[in-house]
Amino acid sequence: SSGSRLTAPPMGWNDWNKFGCGVTEAVIRETADALVRTGLRDAGYRYVNVDDCWEAGSRDTAGHLQADPMTFPGGMAALAEYVHARGLRFGIYTAAGDKTCQGRPASGGHYQQDARDFAAWGVDYVKFDWCGAQGDPYQLATQFRAALDATGRTMVLGVSRHGNPWTWPTHPADLWRTSADIDDQWSSLLRNTEEEAGLATKAGRGVGWNDPDMLQVGNGGMNTEEYRAHLSLWSVLAAPLLMGNDVRTADQATVDLLGNREVVAVDQDPLGVPGDRVRSDGDREVWSRPLAGGDVAVALFNRGATSAEIRTDAREVGLRPAAGYDLRDLWEHRDTQSAGGISALVPPHGVVLFRVSADQARSAPQVTVSTDT
Ligand code: DGJ
Repeated sequence: SSGSRLTAPPMGWNDWNKFGCGVTEAVIRETADALVRTGLRDAGYRYVNVDDCWEAGSRDTAGHLQADPMTFPGGMAALAEYVHARGLRFGIYTAAGDKTCQGRPASGGHYQQDARDFAAWGVDYVKFDWCGAQGDPYQLATQFRAALDATGRTMVLGVSRHGNPWTWPTHPADLWRTSADIDDQWSSLLRNTEEEAGLATKAGRGVGWNDPDMLQVGNGGMNTEEYRAHLSLWSVLAAPLLMGNDVRTADQATVDLLGNREVVAVDQDPLGVPGDRVRSDGDREVWSRPLAGGDVAVALFNRGATSAEIRTDAREVGLRPAAGYDLRDLWEHRDTQSAGGISALVPPHGVVLFRVSADQARSAPQVTVSTDT
């Protein structure tokens, strides 16, 4: 296929950032329950994705991938059924070559067989890693996409950054990584955000989604301001929102942060056009994203360790001319009016996120309509 069928970036959860190879089927089941209980499923977080290390050390005698008998004794089909029964979707992980990044069997030489098994197990999403695969990443992703499509089951395909997928002539994947693995620290968030500058035009609805990697919100290495910045930037970038924390034990503040409906609505905006950087002045940056209906999301992004006044205006962020604008602060849930200036005192390592709307009444063109009869 030539582009993603997803009308918005995928949302959900993946075990890797928190659990790594310590993941078990109990963790996955309990997380599915927690997504329902916390309301995060209903806030939009639908995919429950198992990352590397679910696989047994070898294929079975018929060549099928099999679940690790110690950590996933119930097998993947039963686990998918458990997840589906809670109104959620099930994701799995494999890689393009012979081995996964953790040395488990991967899909090299078995694309059709694995795709058929995934479909039979009820998989809805496949993360297709690279890690030392041989060959051209574009060709291999295209072949794996064809194998998925041949099963007749709709499955989302996420690939790594190898071969720069955003430059490919067609888009076999629904999403593609744009950066190295994210760590639970500010420097990593800065690096992965920086990698996305200039890539907005490479992604979007009907094409696929740039993926600056999964969320670290709630994992403890950053403070609340930094985690708000994380979700704000990812939403302006139209990034996949795959939570990476332990949802089972998440405190209410973390659930509320991830579940902020107004921020999630920016990420999932139906226009499907990613945002990009429009101003950079030392540690002060402005990123903006056009939204359906003419609104614009504006992130005033303070990379630095001291508070900073960050300024832009309606024209710079791409709003149409109007007599006035409404600035909705999506974290404070407060509205202010402006004649065109957009500014805030942004805390250290923070983002102030606005949804800006041009004032309809005052911007309506004063025209006389004559009707031919
Ligand atoms: C590399 C990927 O970038 C990570 O997100 C994770 O999937 C690991 N591989 C697993 O081995």
